[in-house]
Amino acid sequence: MTADPVGQQTVSKSELAEDSQSSETPLGTPDVRNPVIESNDLDVYYGDTQALHGITMEIPERQVTALIGPSGCGKSTFLRSINRMNDLIDVARVDGDLFFHGKNVYDDDVDPVALRRRIGMVFQKPNPFPKSIFDNVAYGLRVQGKDDGDVEAKVRRALERAALLDEVEDKLDESGLDLSGGQQQRLCIARAIAPDPEVILMDEPASALDPVATSKIEDLVEELAEEYTVVIVTHNMQQAARISDKTAVFLTGGHLVEFDDTNKIFENPESDRVEDYITGKFG
Ligand SMILES: Nc1ncnc2c1ncn2[C@@H]1O[C@H](COP(=O)(O)OP(=O)(O)OP(=O)(O)O)[C@@H](O)[C@H]1O
Ligand SMILES: [Mg+2]
Repeated sequence: MTADPVGQQTVSKSELAEDSQSSETPLGTPDVRNPVIESNDLDVYYGDTQALHGITMEIPERQVTALIGPSGCGKSTFLRSINRMNDLIDVARVDGDLFFHGKNVYDDDVDPVALRRRIGMVFQKPNPFPKSIFDNVAYGLRVQGKDDGDVEAKVRRALERAALLDEVEDKLDESGLDLSGGQQQRLCIARAIAPDPEVILMDEPASALDPVATSKIEDLVEELAEEYTVVIVTHNMQQAARISDKTAVFLTGGHLVEFDDTNKIFENPESDRVEDYITGKFG
């Protein structure tokens, strides 16, 4: 396949004839009134290997959109393509469009660092910096030049919104690394929201946590969606069913097979493969 866009189009058309899954609009018809993010026929490659095929979907504002699917189906790859974290992987290459408020984030004039200020990210493994709790949360504000003298109030507000303030109020100077795993993850969420992004991407934020900590993160995700657009990858189907408004099901090979309201996906999916996946017949 060539990088030439005209050649590319010809190839994907002929591929369509052979493989009905390629570059197809997914099944499902979610009612997305205010898309913040729109992915249009997005392909991602690592070297010669194609990890995502023609992903087309709209992510609604101030809702929780869950990305589910078996290991290796491209969930993290898709998440990273939204705020251009794939730029940091040498062999990664993206084709197609990814619009944020109607602007293609892959346009030459988009600064990925500025983009990531508006689209923050929380990872699977809590990764606090070896700094105090306060400095962890203040970090993003300082780096992003939002240290306008009001840092303390902003740090406290972020910790409060991340449902952590009560537990750390008396020890803001202690190391973030001395917190429990669940507290560390809420600290990372506080760090992500302190600079006031619009979108928060979360890649399996609770998978390393115990059930109590997981349930705190789940409550938090639902609350965050009152102010932010949340896109969350999870392996845990019950979790997706509990906390998300929309669910996108990716299946092996990097195809988005179905995208719809979460209730519809879990109660009456269009695709037999999706039904098999969510009922645990494979994956
Ligand atoms: N940095 C990389 N270099 C090369 N290939 C990669 C890289 N990251 C991911 N891949 C490949 O891309 C495909 C999708 O990977 P990805 O990590 O997006 O899947 P995933 O759905 O998030 O899986 P998991 O549920 O295990 O986290 C896989 O085949 C993977 O091996
Ligand atoms: Mg992943």
